[in-house]
Amino acid sequence: MSEVTTAADNQSGDALENLLTENRHFAPSAEFAANAIVHADEYAKANADRPAFWGEQARELLTWSKPFTKTLDWTNPPFATWFEDGEINAAYNALDRHVEAGNGDRVAIHFEGEPGDTRTYTYAQLTEEVKKAANAFESLGLVKGDRVAVYLPMIPEAVITLLACARIGAIHSVVFGGFSADALRSRIDDAEAKLVITSDGTFRRGKPSSLKPAVDEALVAPGHSVQHVVVVKRNGQDVKWVEGRDVWWDDTVGTASTEHTAVGHAAEHPLFILYTSGTTGKPKGILHTTGGYLTQTAYTHRAVFDLHPETDVFWCTADVGWITGHSYVTYAPLINGATQVMYEGTPDSPHQGRFWEIVEKYKVTILYTAPTAIRTFMKWGEEIPNKYDLSSIRLLGSVGEPINPEAWMWYRRVIGGNNAPIVDTWWQTETGAIMVAPLPGVTNTKPGSAQVPMPGIAVDVVDELGASVPHGHGGYLTIREPWPSMLRGIWGDNERYKDTYWSRFDEMYFAGDGAKWDDDGDIWLLGRVDDVMNISGHRLSTTEIESALVSHPSVAEAAVVGAADETTGQAVVAFVILRGSAVEDADIVTTLRNHVGKEIGPIAKPKTILVVPELPKTRSGKIMRRLLKDVAEGRTVGDASTLADNTVMNQIAESLKA
Ligand code: WT7
Repeated sequence: MSEVTTAADNQSGDALENLLTENRHFAPSAEFAANAIVHADEYAKANADRPAFWGEQARELLTWSKPFTKTLDWTNPPFATWFEDGEINAAYNALDRHVEAGNGDRVAIHFEGEPGDTRTYTYAQLTEEVKKAANAFESLGLVKGDRVAVYLPMIPEAVITLLACARIGAIHSVVFGGFSADALRSRIDDAEAKLVITSDGTFRRGKPSSLKPAVDEALVAPGHSVQHVVVVKRNGQDVKWVEGRDVWWDDTVGTASTEHTAVGHAAEHPLFILYTSGTTGKPKGILHTTGGYLTQTAYTHRAVFDLHPETDVFWCTADVGWITGHSYVTYAPLINGATQVMYEGTPDSPHQGRFWEIVEKYKVTILYTAPTAIRTFMKWGEEIPNKYDLSSIRLLGSVGEPINPEAWMWYRRVIGGNNAPIVDTWWQTETGAIMVAPLPGVTNTKPGSAQVPMPGIAVDVVDELGASVPHGHGGYLTIREPWPSMLRGIWGDNERYKDTYWSRFDEMYFAGDGAKWDDDGDIWLLGRVDDVMNISGHRLSTTEIESALVSHPSVAEAAVVGAADETTGQAVVAFVILRGSAVEDADIVTTLRNHVGKEIGPIAKPKTILVVPELPKTRSGKIMRRLLKDVAEGRTVGDASTLADNTVMNQIAESLKA
């Protein structure tokens, strides 16, 4: 277990004071409450018998090829099973059944490419595409249980690929396009992926950008498990071709049969692996299975976003490379038969009004995005969104990091027309689906707080010893009972699963977040209490970046902290000690930034690298990141009395002045 600081370390005293005094509340309008899908009685009903409640949701929201008779099995904690004897096909639930029910002509996806090209898929069309992809992947030798690495931009083929894998029982492992060839290779190796699905590239800020070269580079060294690479043509760039290994999407999927029968898979059959950063260097392959995951993603999507599938247009801006793009782009909206928008690019291309242009064009009713984006929009100025008709919006969501009350108020006023409820949703790659959030037709929302555990979810805030803390107090966020979409483990590493999540407190899941109950009994998230950073809602590990830095021949030692940043929430700041042979010059910083980019990916490049003569360490050799964070955030350095050498902080201060 890594060093755990107290939750209060992550917030200044002032911020905590403010949290305690937030007294603005926003009740849903009478009209919203009257038409809401979920009502206040849901909490009592769900919490009276949680497994029974989830069983009911599983039956109502999903179509099972073989009904289950058992709900939860928790006889071997922390290994849970849900709906174990049932069988279900995720793709059938997302697609075929809507066509069979007569909704084949409903739009499933409005795709908007960055250059402005568009495509629309109805449920009938998307079903056909997924059947073709399933046939094509099978013809390449893929069978149930095989792993597929997916390295794609935000284009419809990403959703088609994931659902085609799910249809045949293959396990997808999406690697975000911002990760490097090295990061891709380590994930391919860990999961022993047989197939890679990628594209020539994508578009970024009006220019083509590539993906296929990273796949080629990842597969240069022998000894990998990959048999074929399927390549979607997206930006038309020239690509290197490995005969026998590489196949064009158009030549395989494009020519495949549209006939494909979906068979049920066991409820606990693995659906996907998604790697995420932990407190140690090696990313963890978070494993999710089928029945429970689909149940809770579908339920939360319906309840938290008050989804009316016939009339709503849902837009979740997350990339498919992250859990949000799995749960609330690929699975839940389609399982629920919703119409959604999918956008390939950045919010400022070709202009800073792009998001609002899209909202206006497709009459988006529900927008789900991240605080880092909201803060960026604030910075750009409200005159930009004010130029567009945003009156279709009736609900706003936030995810990925704490949303500061100012950003919340701006989001409500400028984007939500002072009327749309805001749902701040707390969850994690590991939880699979939303765990803490208001119910928009029920809860009086409060700026900055994620507020209440979802019906059927047992969230708590506890002290060092695991005892619940009273209202008005802070501690660690835990989950006291298993939930349907919980991770089932870490791919290939049961011990690490137990150790990371279930050993800090007895019989409780430890989320890694600090939290606080306010006087009204609402939950405030206070940031990570471990060595995990949150940069623009993306999870990065301090240790992982430190390992990347010290793998460079010029670096002797490195310490990385997440320093508060106005726009991105946190920014990566690295302190490095150079080897005797390396000369300190301006170039070393650029060299090291690029080196981290190569080792992990551009998203992990430190914003600032400071060359220092020493690092603050305890007598047992642990780096005291807390003190470095003080330096990085420009504060007076805190208590340094436990340092082995208490002159170190002065040495650092002197070297930074020089
Ligand atoms: C970590 C999980 C959930 C999908 C995106 C991130 C932070 C997430 C919130 C929120 C405060 C939040 C937590 C959590 N986080 N949502 N609404 N308020 N913090 O998934 O990459 O697995 O990161 O993101 O620190 O532990 P992830």
